[in-house]
This record gives sequence, C-alpha cells and structure tokens, in this order.
Amino acid sequence: MPAVAYVNGRYGPIAEAGVSVEDRGFQFADSLYEVVAVLNGRFLDWEKHLWRLRRGLSALFIEGLPSDAALAHIARRLVGLSRYADGLLYIQVSRGAGRRDHPFPSDTPATLVLTMRRFDFRQRLPQLETGVPAISVPDQRWARCDLKTTGLLPAVLAKQEARAAGAFEALFVKDGTVTEGGSTNIYMVTADGVIVTHPLSARILPGIARDTLLDLAREAQMKVEERPFTIEEARAAPELFLTSTTAPILPIVRLDGGAVGTGRPGPVTARLGQLAWAEIGRQTGWKP
Ligand code: PDD
Repeated sequence: MPAVAYVNGRYGPIAEAGVSVEDRGFQFADSLYEVVAVLNGRFLDWEKHLWRLRRGLSALFIEGLPSDAALAHIARRLVGLSRYADGLLYIQVSRGAGRRDHPFPSDTPATLVLTMRRFDFRQRLPQLETGVPAISVPDQRWARCDLKTTGLLPAVLAKQEARAAGAFEALFVKDGTVTEGGSTNIYMVTADGVIVTHPLSARILPGIARDTLLDLAREAQMKVEERPFTIEEARAAPELFLTSTTAPILPIVRLDGGAVGTGRPGPVTARLGQLAWAEIGRQTGWKP
C-alpha cells in the first residue's frame, strides 16, 4: 500500500480516507498536529512528540486521545501497512465533528487522524553541504505559537512567498527579532562561536529537533544562548541555520538575497550537522 491513513479506527489508502465536513479541524482549525520522522522504520524522538501533543491537548481542553501505548500501536501498524522505511508520520487530533457553533460541542468524540507518507531524508545531506536560501517576513501569527495547531495560514503565506522568491524558508520577524521559521526553528552563530536561538515562549514552537540539537551542542561543550536576536544581528552573523523534523539541520547561506557570512556553510553548523545525523543514526540505525 502506498501512502496510508488511519481515521477514527479505520486503516486504508490515503485517497479513500475522510472526515466529516462538520469536523472542527476543518471548520475552525480546532485541532493540533504532530509530524514525526520515520527512519529505518523507527520513530525519531517519539516520546518528545507525544509530550508536546499531550501538552497542547490539555491547553486546548481536547480530551479522549487513546493512551500512549494505543497511539504507538496505531502508528506502528500504519508504518507497517505503508511498507515505507523512511517517511513522515502525521498525527492530527481535532475536537471532533458537530453542528457549526464556536463553543465546544458536548459529547463529541475527538477525531484522530494519522497518515504515513514516504519521505527521502537523504535529500538533506547535499543540502547540508550547500546550504539553503531564506527570506524574512513579518510574523503575523497569533499569540500562542507554542501550540502546534493546524491554523497555519500565516505560515502557508510565508512559505509560499519563500518559494516564489526561490528560498527554502521564511524567517518570521516580530518587533525586530527573529522568532522562528515558517516551519523550522532558527539559530545564528556569533563571531565568537556562540549558538543563539529564540528562548522558549509563546512566540515559538518548542521544536523537537531544537530540543535535541541544543542538548547535543551542550554535551559537545559548545556555547548556547537562548535569547531573542534581531534581524540585523542575523544579517551580520557569520552563520545561520534551521532545524525541524523534516530538515534536522540546514545551513542558511543567503538571507533576503545577501550572503550569510562567506555565503558557504560555516564550521559550527557543519559540526552540529555531524552531531545531529550521528544522533539520528544512534536512535534509528538509519544509514544514508
Ligand atoms: N514543522 N516552528 C514551526 C512553526 C514549525 O511548524 C515546526 C515544525 C518547527 C520545528 O519543530 P520540530 O523540530 O518539532 O519539527 C518550528 C513541521 C515539521 C511541519 O509543520 O510540517
């Protein structure tokens, strides 16, 4: 079976899967999601993704998600059905279907959707060598960017603008500071080699790749500062890079058309790239 889906108890081809038009995920973006990397048939950072999902669900008062063990069982079965060794597992939980009315419906079970699609992580290795271009855009999102809701319209518009400009990512700028990317966390490296990234707050998503990368950096005795930095600092920085589930780490070598540093990936990002891919190999046994 190619790309597969699970919807409220049923497994099948993604093309045949569906939810009600009255689903609150569709009507209100009243839903949360996770994207988990599957490498060599194994989940990367599974517990961390589950932690973030549960945290979001409790913040939004969405109840009724199966237990962690049941969810892991569904996820493993879906990966097995897909027969893909490498892919992206998508999990979405909405508040369920009900007559359109803003307040929560009563007695409506949550909708649970999982999909598994093929994804080729090997494409990230040459990109790690060359780096990718980015643009900056105003951060027009809501005040709870720490929740991974499917209300992604500002990110959709920002990433479309990036694509139209031939860039890989759009950096969100709020009050002069770089918060994060359209679908990534963003870092700069200072002239003295300090890795700087926006601190955890309601302004950014607590990225799982971010969490893992900062741990690896600290273990390797590299200096890390979690503090806001301005777009001017970013433009002047010798190195910029991004992290996410789908791009564990990539150097940003151009910003709004200008070169970042030498215009080539720098040594700090290269070192972190080695550490990040070694950790992926350690957790999943994945080899390029
Ligand atoms: N995006 N910031 C935003 C706004 C994101 O949407 C994401 C993830 C990240 C990185 O988080 P993580 O390291 O947990 O993937 C940061 C996912 C991959 C997506 O929307 O497809």
